[in-house]
Amino acid sequence: PRPVILDLDPGHDDAVNILLALASPELRVLGLTTVFGNVGLERTTRNALITRQIARSDVPVYAGADRPLVQERISAEAVHGESGLDGPHLPAPTRGTEDEHAAAFIIRTVRAHPGEVTLVPTGPLTNVALAFRLAPDIIPLVREVVWMGGSTDTGNWTPAAEFNALADPHAAHVVFGSGVPLTMIGLNASHQAIAHPARVELFRDLDTPTGAFVADLLAFFAEHHLERYGWDGGALHDPLTVAYLLRPDLFTVQPMHVQIDLSGGPSHGRTVADLWHVTGNAPNAQVMTRVNADGFFELLRDRIATY
Ligand code: BDR
Ligand code: CA
Repeated sequence: PRPVILDLDPGHDDAVNILLALASPELRVLGLTTVFGNVGLERTTRNALITRQIARSDVPVYAGADRPLVQERISAEAVHGESGLDGPHLPAPTRGTEDEHAAAFIIRTVRAHPGEVTLVPTGPLTNVALAFRLAPDIIPLVREVVWMGGSTDTGNWTPAAEFNALADPHAAHVVFGSGVPLTMIGLNASHQAIAHPARVELFRDLDTPTGAFVADLLAFFAEHHLERYGWDGGALHDPLTVAYLLRPDLFTVQPMHVQIDLSGGPSHGRTVADLWHVTGNAPNAQVMTRVNADGFFELLRDRIATY
């Protein structure tokens, strides 16, 4: 199995990504690392512990950065609720985190498995950037980074910027400039994966506690999307990362150069993607452009059914 570290800010879609990864025999999840993002670090970490417990897994959890590298922290309670995981009943976690910082864990683990570890961040890139700055020797040892964030077109937190990119654009700048093999799964892709009511029922119909947990998460997540965009379901952003590792045939990616806007102006945090190669800059990322949404939701349903 392919070794992965999930770096996340759960978050409804992050939690679904944890469940998908832990149900997939093709992957060996070496650890979950947490970062501030949708809500503060204490809550994203608690939500990772809760989700691990729901998955009946003992994968270790490491807490990381509680704020961005340079700018002030932002958060997304408006989307994910006060807990970060509002909607389903949340059990109290019975086990805590490990005693090591997320960035230290990433460094130690990549060095222990040179060329093998795929990093799967689905929040601000702060932990990955810290690891790359603390230990640049690990950059050529990482197999790949598959990040949910950014967009080739418009944003969702400002007209220009996607939330994970905007939450720590300086960290994104470090990662996109590092030379690491990188896949960017942005809003232009995830807005093709809408969990509309018939898809939520796929999970409800499993008639299992984990199926109901996922259905409850998706139903809550849908409310914000209805209010803001008038859509009848939430965009299931983060699980596209693990799904892409499992079934690349369901997706189209294109190499391009991506630059992070750090101007502080109205486009701050934008992932400026050179779709038509007009800059002449060499591609630094594979950028997802198309999603087979029915195939993706079937895969997710089949894996959640194994719980
Ligand atoms: C991203 O921001 C968060 O709200 C989601 O978990 C996802 O990672 C989408 O912009
Ligand atoms: Ca996330």
